[in-house]
Amino acid sequence: MNFLRYLLTGLLLLTSTSLVYSQNIKWLEVEPGIWKGIIGKPENFDLLKASGAVAVHQGLSDMGQAKFPLGESDITAKVTDGKTYLHFPLSQNEQLYGLGLNFKTVQQRGRILTLHVDNYEGKDNGRTHSPTPFYISSNGYGVFINSARYIQVYAGTAVRTDSKNPPIAQDRNTDDNWSARPYSDGVDILVPAQGVEVYVLGGPTMLDAVRRYNLLSGGGCLPPRWGLGFTQRVQRLSTAADVLKEADAFEEKGYPLDFIGLEPGWQSKSYPCTFEWDKSRFPDPRGFVGAMLKKNVRLNLWTNPYISPESPIAKIIAGYTGSHSVWVGAVADITIPEARQVFFGELSKNKIDIGVSGFKIDEVDGGDEYLWPDVATFPSGHSAEQMRQTYGLMMQRYVTGQYHQLNRRTFGLVRASNGGGSSFPFVIYNDYYNHRDFITALINSGFAGVLWTPEVRDSKTAEEWLRRFQSNIFSPMAMINAWESGTKPWTFPEVAAQVKQMAALRMQMMPYWYSEFAKYHFKGIPPFRSMVLEDGFGNHDLIKNTNDVNLKDYPYGRVITQEVKDQYMAGQYLLVAPMFNGETSRKVILPKGNWYDFYTGKYAGNGEVISVMPGLDKIPVYVKDGGIIPMMPATLHAPKANEKVDLEIRYYGNKPGYYLLYDDDGETFEYEKGAWSFRKIKVELKKGKIAGEISAPVKGKPNTIGKVTFKKMG
Ligand code: GAL
Repeated sequence: MNFLRYLLTGLLLLTSTSLVYSQNIKWLEVEPGIWKGIIGKPENFDLLKASGAVAVHQGLSDMGQAKFPLGESDITAKVTDGKTYLHFPLSQNEQLYGLGLNFKTVQQRGRILTLHVDNYEGKDNGRTHSPTPFYISSNGYGVFINSARYIQVYAGTAVRTDSKNPPIAQDRNTDDNWSARPYSDGVDILVPAQGVEVYVLGGPTMLDAVRRYNLLSGGGCLPPRWGLGFTQRVQRLSTAADVLKEADAFEEKGYPLDFIGLEPGWQSKSYPCTFEWDKSRFPDPRGFVGAMLKKNVRLNLWTNPYISPESPIAKIIAGYTGSHSVWVGAVADITIPEARQVFFGELSKNKIDIGVSGFKIDEVDGGDEYLWPDVATFPSGHSAEQMRQTYGLMMQRYVTGQYHQLNRRTFGLVRASNGGGSSFPFVIYNDYYNHRDFITALINSGFAGVLWTPEVRDSKTAEEWLRRFQSNIFSPMAMINAWESGTKPWTFPEVAAQVKQMAALRMQMMPYWYSEFAKYHFKGIPPFRSMVLEDGFGNHDLIKNTNDVNLKDYPYGRVITQEVKDQYMAGQYLLVAPMFNGETSRKVILPKGNWYDFYTGKYAGNGEVISVMPGLDKIPVYVKDGGIIPMMPATLHAPKANEKVDLEIRYYGNKPGYYLLYDDDGETFEYEKGAWSFRKIKVELKKGKIAGEISAPVKGKPNTIGKVTFKKMG
């Protein structure tokens, strides 16, 4: 019966595109806890195809089974007028998260978004650097729309006449409860295509749904160890001599530095780009890269993908470019293998192949005024819209591929990504510069399957400089982007010592960051994420006074929860609560369970809101009871491949603590062939004294762990 029905609807669809038909979706469990539903005739090109993501089957099986989280008949779909209409149920107490890299909001119920790759322009309307079409429900499940189209989402705003739980019509004349935005019990989604693939991701927790999404997208990225050190981007017209001098200055002054980013001036022409070294500023690229590597400092190169008529590849690639240019530069159709060969071959030549460690892929996001327009056409037949939604994804994919061929890991920057991109070793950044909103973005990055850096560029005051720097140290990429400002970590002498201390802390924490990224990779756990993904956060319980809740901005949502946008989890054990310029104190919400001060180990609270006055030197950071933070000496550069490093294992609180410490060579892709291990750490208090153990190195696997000592904090 079913088969006949699908066949019939399929046939009908082929004969008429304006025909309306409804369909209950058949859900197929494609991985444990992940169901795929096919509606209508999905397009040949979608986000997962663009990213080439291969689900991490092992990680998903390790998570075990899950129940299909929704009533199957409550999800409906319809294809009409060449578009797919999707409807998902919402219950009264449900909150929604995700729907891309938003900068101002974390809760998405009650919002209308058009998910569209774009430069963020100060409004959470769906146009952003990674408009990942994935939402997570507080009921513990997720929904991912695998489409490379501009998708409209009505996240609990649209009221259907056939609603099971309709709002009551109220009289505006007399009823104070009348609302211009009555209650909605659904998420409605419009995909401008005659079909789409949808994934439902099971829980039972929200974190489980997020993990499943990341594992479906290929698992989180695993940066090389050096990627987690410190990076400085130099002023855009710096010469080779300037850069060498800058690296020396870091060394002499004792500031850590693992890679330097060159901005547009390394190229002979930029916007559009030649992809060739400028001969006057960089007369001997190979010699220069080699000299930098001798100083243990790698190089990352800025580029946008728009090909200057003067680029050596301009003529060769001419048959494979779009109908419209960007800054008079050609746009390669990188869905075509021949175009890729030319384009990525050029990125390799005299760059990757002489030791450049990565790229900053700029301008693949938007905005509309300068990117190719939606009327552009591409030789592959992919639409301008599809190209816009996936160009950043594909750039990451194929650049990573170049490094993969050479068995060298990379870690770079990109200004656009999308669904299916979790595994790419790139961090998103932009030109917006609101410190608070940067933290909200960091929180949302964990829902969107991407990494985000709250980069530091310049500041009006020493205080602001230090506050921004402190947050940046607790983020995926610790970076000053001085492309315009020319700032250095020591630019504000009043706080240079504190900045140095923070940078040193970043290095000390490298074993922690590295292990947490390995958990992103193998288990899909985002290293930087929202408090609501944390056990015991009990957000709802914390609201004692509904006046705290900004109901005016969220009138659709009946859920009275506080939106927490200024504190986040960093790895398994840390809660980070940034301080913003001008603040001397702040409130921190501690989830249930005992929490301890990161710096002193002193008890801080349990399931409560605390007020803290950390002073200028410190960013408030708290550690969960039983927390284990592996630390290494504060070196100026990351350990080399396979280099042994001594560890101090810091332990907090009283509960027995467990930790999986990740180890591999730190630089190659050998881990894909099994050359890695998790060493098990256990620490407890025996008669008040610390007793710690670490499992023996696994035979035949890389072992970079030297002497291990244990330290009770507090
Ligand atoms: C911007 C980018 C900046 C910097 C600049 C150089 O697009 O966001 O970080 O790289 O280009 O021109």
